[in-house]
Amino acid sequence: MKVYNAQLIKTVYDIEDLPPADKKEIAFAGRSNVGKSSFLNAVLGIKIAKVSSTPGKTRSINYYLVNNKYYFVDLPGYGFANVSKQEKERWNILMNEYFKNRFSLNAVSLLIDHRHMPQKLDYTMVEWLKDLGIPFFFILTKSDKLKKSEKAKLFGEIKNSFSSYGEYIYLPFSSKTKEGLKEVSKTIGDILGE
Ligand code: GTP
Ligand code: MG
Repeated sequence: MKVYNAQLIKTVYDIEDLPPADKKEIAFAGRSNVGKSSFLNAVLGIKIAKVSSTPGKTRSINYYLVNNKYYFVDLPGYGFANVSKQEKERWNILMNEYFKNRFSLNAVSLLIDHRHMPQKLDYTMVEWLKDLGIPFFFILTKSDKLKKSEKAKLFGEIKNSFSSYGEYIYLPFSSKTKEGLKEVSKTIGDILGE
């Protein structure tokens, strides 16, 4: 799909504040610092989501209205060590309510750092989405940081590590070089029925 315009329309800290579920939506999840906000900026073609080298930047559910037709949703990252128990609990409740009740959610794009094997919370997220019957696919981020041979090796290993859950789409991506942007845009378009 081609993005003609995008704007941040809502920052949600409380599940009661979600916008009406009147548009198709796609959400972006992943560990803190994996590159979700950078990814969104690349896909939307404008610097709109806040990027930071300090993990835990995005704490809210951020709603972007795209082409006046769809919602793209930047979810708060998980697995950030420097987070209080209370904050973790808040994240759990917010995400649980969101995934369980957001019937307009078409799919989740799960971002995994291409350089490393997935971690425990990534598998927990996959199990969660699977249990709830929410379709998802994988984006392997920061691909520019890998040599070609390492990339091919890790691609296979990451894919393999999720194979017991089912067959999924895996797209290497770099918000720096825009590698994979075409494939990502096409996949998102297919999901939204463009
Ligand atoms: P939180 O909101 O804190 O959960 O992080 P996030 O997942 O939104 O990550 P963010 O986009 O803020 O990026 C984190 C850091 O990784 C920043 O320093 C980015 O510049 C860097 N980064 C993100 N994507 C890429 C990429 O594709 N390549 C490279 N080289 N760096 C990237
Ligand atoms: Mg972010």
